[in-house]
Amino acid sequence: MNQTIAIDGPAGAGKSTIAKRVSNMLGYHYVDTGAMYRTLALALLRAGISEKDEEAVKKILVSTEVRVRYEDSVQHMILNGEDVTHLLRKEEVGDMASRSSALAPVREKLLDLQQQLAESMPVVMDGRDIGTVVVPDALLKIYLTASVAVRAQRRYKELVEKGETPVLPNIEADIRERDERDMNRPIAPLRQAEDAYLVDSSDLTIEEVCDRIIRLFYGALGITIAENAGFCFGVRRAVRMLEESIENGEKPIRTLGPIIHNETVVRSMEEKGVITLKDGASLPTDGKGTVVIRSHGVGPDVSEKLRGMGYQVVDATCPFVQKIHEIVRRESKAGRLIILIGDPAHPENIGTLAWAEGPCISIASAEEAKAMKLPKDARICVVAQTTFDREKFKELVEIIGEKEYDMLVLNTICHATDMRQTEAAALADSVDMMLVVGSRSSSNTQKLYDICKGRCACTSYIQSLDDLVTITFRSDSRVGITAGASTPNNIIQEVAGYVRRAKF
Ligand code: F3S
Repeated sequence: MNQTIAIDGPAGAGKSTIAKRVSNMLGYHYVDTGAMYRTLALALLRAGISEKDEEAVKKILVSTEVRVRYEDSVQHMILNGEDVTHLLRKEEVGDMASRSSALAPVREKLLDLQQQLAESMPVVMDGRDIGTVVVPDALLKIYLTASVAVRAQRRYKELVEKGETPVLPNIEADIRERDERDMNRPIAPLRQAEDAYLVDSSDLTIEEVCDRIIRLFYGALGITIAENAGFCFGVRRAVRMLEESIENGEKPIRTLGPIIHNETVVRSMEEKGVITLKDGASLPTDGKGTVVIRSHGVGPDVSEKLRGMGYQVVDATCPFVQKIHEIVRRESKAGRLIILIGDPAHPENIGTLAWAEGPCISIASAEEAKAMKLPKDARICVVAQTTFDREKFKELVEIIGEKEYDMLVLNTICHATDMRQTEAAALADSVDMMLVVGSRSSSNTQKLYDICKGRCACTSYIQSLDDLVTITFRSDSRVGITAGASTPNNIIQEVAGYVRRAKF
């Protein structure tokens, strides 16, 4: 089965960066077609032939041998038996390549080589006519683009970093002109193949673009990774903030509790020098270094105390949790008794309750809601733990509502949890097999598993790749993959990669 990924698009859209990353993620070879054109350009320069002399170009091509060799997955270009890879970045070679690549004999000569490579192994290939001309039967075709303004900004930044003084409007004009030329040239013009997916990278990070392409690739193989599988926004943000502290060289760095409920991630952070504290009590009193507050958040007393002790505080509390803190503080100040629906022992709720400036309680069951007795004229504000079950929240609110207090209900359940569960249910309905990836100790992963198992009998709980060994994957099976909020993307990718190899 041809598993080629063809990435085409205009200059400056980030094709080669993305193609390299995607090939690394999949363990595929990256075929740099630009280097091939540069190799032939070098041959023309060495022979002293102008690209305008088409007869001379044709003649030299007959006696020119171009090969590709991979060493440690790095592409080397061999010209007439000589490794010329190190010569291809020279400006004169690039200039000649941009002129000679428009010539039909040059394109024809390289077409054979590119097609042979795509037939001999799984590759990610980028260029301007890969999906339309070179590998029209590629498994996945991507047309990667970005607005002229964004591409110009990227180029401007590159040039400034090189110490040059570019003029932005001039770069924009050059890009427009080049697009026009590439799209209207007579041989292999740049255009989106009919069956190519359009990916606009204007507002996406490199990681987001790669993630989108990888998902499309697996989708083409009958493996669907749920959009909302793995880290939620808040967890991703907290991990990123911790990584930034590490990169900034802040030392020592401590986290108040594990940064997320995933041992692999916590261990890898610890290997980078992060110290995971069980609780605030185990914090030294010297005030040296940085303390990271994880996405669950803490009470205002905790962060104030840390700052008072001299620590630099990185507050990675999820903005959705911060919103509950704000509600609890405001409504308790306004005289309402706070009723937090959620597990009172959960770190998020311990932190949330500490924001109340008046009485507050936490309940988690219908029994507790029924047993609750407050004065008839009580004014209450009901909020929820971000990951609380939506249906159960409704049930408890109804029970409390029957008591006819002056009640303000603010549903603070996080949308991310909801979306993940709804999407997992829909995916489980549409596939033959469902894999739920995450730790057994993660309650949201367990919940996902229960939802999927209820809809797809062939659902498996995957904690590590070892759990996949006993499962048989048929090439025509449709496989769905979802994962709990603390499952890192690389683990989801490893599972998908295993399924791909097992299926084909
Ligand atoms: Fe924040 Fe929702 Fe995740 S509250 S930490 S985005 S589950």
